Amino acid sequence: MYNSKITGLGYYVPENVVTNNDLTQWMDTNDEWIQERTGIKERRWIDPKTGDNTSNMGAKAARIAIERAGLTKDDIDFIIFATLSPDMYFPGGGVRVQDLLDMPTIGALDVRNQCSGFIYSLSVADQFIKTGMYKNVLVIGSENHSGGLERSTRGRGVTVIFGDGAGAAVLSRSEAQGKGILSSHLHSEGKHAKELALEGPSTGRWVPEIIKENDPNDVSYYPHMNGQFVFKHAVVRFSEAIIEGLQTNNLQATDIDMLIPHQANLRISQFVQKKFGLSDDKVHNNIMKYGNTTAASVIIALTEAWELGKIKGNDLVVLAAFGSGFTWGSVIIRW
Ligand code: UT7
Repeated sequence: MYNSKITGLGYYVPENVVTNNDLTQWMDTNDEWIQERTGIKERRWIDPKTGDNTSNMGAKAARIAIERAGLTKDDIDFIIFATLSPDMYFPGGGVRVQDLLDMPTIGALDVRNQCSGFIYSLSVADQFIKTGMYKNVLVIGSENHSGGLERSTRGRGVTVIFGDGAGAAVLSRSEAQGKGILSSHLHSEGKHAKELALEGPSTGRWVPEIIKENDPNDVSYYPHMNGQFVFKHAVVRFSEAIIEGLQTNNLQATDIDMLIPHQANLRISQFVQKKFGLSDDKVHNNIMKYGNTTAASVIIALTEAWELGKIKGNDLVVLAAFGSGFTWGSVIIRW
């Protein structure tokens, strides 16, 4: 059986910086509240004039990851694309990346698992490689949140949190034993689907219906979140997924060299860090700069930590995420 390892990483965020103070032009909020409750200082929102969107940000990140893997686009066997904010209702973003990168007619799979989208995608790529079906799989997480957020006081509980960006990894076949992805752990609890969701447009809430009703109180086409409920579940599920990953590999918290938590809220990351007794140099957070980029958050943070030299050969790297669905999971990597 083969192993899989990450051979290339890349990320792309739009240039346009939106500070907490900038948000006050649209809604009743303030820098102090946002920083205290979330840790966020600023985020990137696409400037529509640039033409950036979910797919082309993913393609930009992918180009960097492929080059750093020492490969060309023609070496990639399969694309996995995670997003909750696709450019179109259908088709998904994977085929758009295939076209933008002028790749051969390889398969492209879209993953709809929100904040844990990258964890799920990496796990799927890992299975394809371990079974021998593919040699190099391109895994992308990309989000254009700013295109669909409610920029008003009514939407502030959600809008201030989310940012745009994309990250990509190339997962490649490896013969080295005990290295690369050691295990992945995926979970869901669909009874909480509506606690963090965007309900329309969908086949349950289709556009003509929304237009016909023309109800000023209708927020079904904006994301909504039961913040405290989600928060309470997040801290429990994050911890469970990490413990499950450590136990599966007969490892302890003290073996962790780098934890990359999904950047949902700095307070969640800090809770998890404390629970596992990790020092500051063993956790990488960047929510301060980018907000919550959902399916892109883990891969942007992983890439950034690697670029900063925080991840070295043989390190034990733990990725963990929780979000809408609810879905959550972890990936344990020996770098
Ligand atoms: O990534 C997927 C997973 N997501 C998460 O894990 C997120 C989990 N939840 C959270 O991070 C937090 O619940 C939030 C950051 C979303 C909210 O923080 P909170 O401490 O739970 O605040 P809250 O929703 O309980 O709201 C407290 C108060 C309310 O006012 P009242 O009713 O106490 O007068 C809100 O209306 O803060 C108000 N508020 C705001 N004030 C200023 C809500 N949003 C804002 C805002 N600016 N942006």
